[in-house]
Amino acid sequence: MSKQMGCVIETRGLAKEYRMGSVTVEALREATLSIETGSCVAITGPSGAGKSTLLSLLGLLDRPTRGTILFQGEDVSRHSDAVLTRLRARFIGYVFQQFHLVPVLKVLDNVLLQLEFAGVPRSRRRQMALEALEKVGMSHRANHYPRELSGGERQRVAIARAIAKRPSLLLADEPTGNLDSANGERILDLLLTLNREGTTLVVVTHDPHIAAQMQRTIQVRDGRLVSEPASVAQGRVSRR
Ligand SMILES: Nc1ncnc2c1ncn2[C@@H]1O[C@H](COP(=O)(O)OP(=O)(O)O)[C@@H](O)[C@H]1O
Ligand SMILES: [Mg+2]
Repeated sequence: MSKQMGCVIETRGLAKEYRMGSVTVEALREATLSIETGSCVAITGPSGAGKSTLLSLLGLLDRPTRGTILFQGEDVSRHSDAVLTRLRARFIGYVFQQFHLVPVLKVLDNVLLQLEFAGVPRSRRRQMALEALEKVGMSHRANHYPRELSGGERQRVAIARAIAKRPSLLLADEPTGNLDSANGERILDLLLTLNREGTTLVVVTHDPHIAAQMQRTIQVRDGRLVSEPASVAQGRVSRR
């Protein structure tokens, strides 16, 4: 039951170069792709291929050197940093391999802080935070500190923090990379459940088992998108 509701994000000719003194690293070249609303997509490729670079551009965490990004149909290339930060805080959830929870804040406060960043009125934050913790099965740990949790539990809290604001796009960079296989499996199941409930999901992974459970796989090699499934080959991802 695929939803055809347009695209959350589209990129055209996206390129990213990192300059370090006289050395330029071309981390991403000519990346043209579309992420359909409601879909789940894996980004795979070897270490150093440009996966995290691509994800951070999709997440509006960084700016491309060239190319354009349409977020919810809007060209964000010329937006100021302040506008990008607001868009990101409101509409994009990000999950990292290293969890990145705030260590001095309790679980509930970690989630509440994100809702504050997202501009959610104070009166609604607590209920939304508790709902998100409930969804990931962590409401019983609301008053614990991150250091009191296992890795798998921390990642569930990180996911709650990312989804509490009900983002239009959930991005995860190697979300199971720091977990054993049983906990990794649980996190993957949780992400897939969130996708079935309507969250658009993009997961960077080098695990073929995870990639196989997504609707689509985008492969990155040496900064280029090198392969595409049949549904995407119809002009959505350009091969250069
Ligand atoms: N901030 C940075 N400064 C300089 N080079 C970087 C930076 N981030 C990534 N790179 C380089 O860009 C390339 C792609 O990196 P990355 O996107 O992190 O790959 P992946 O996530 O696939 O392992 C690599 O050669 C990496 O060393
Ligand atoms: Mg990476």
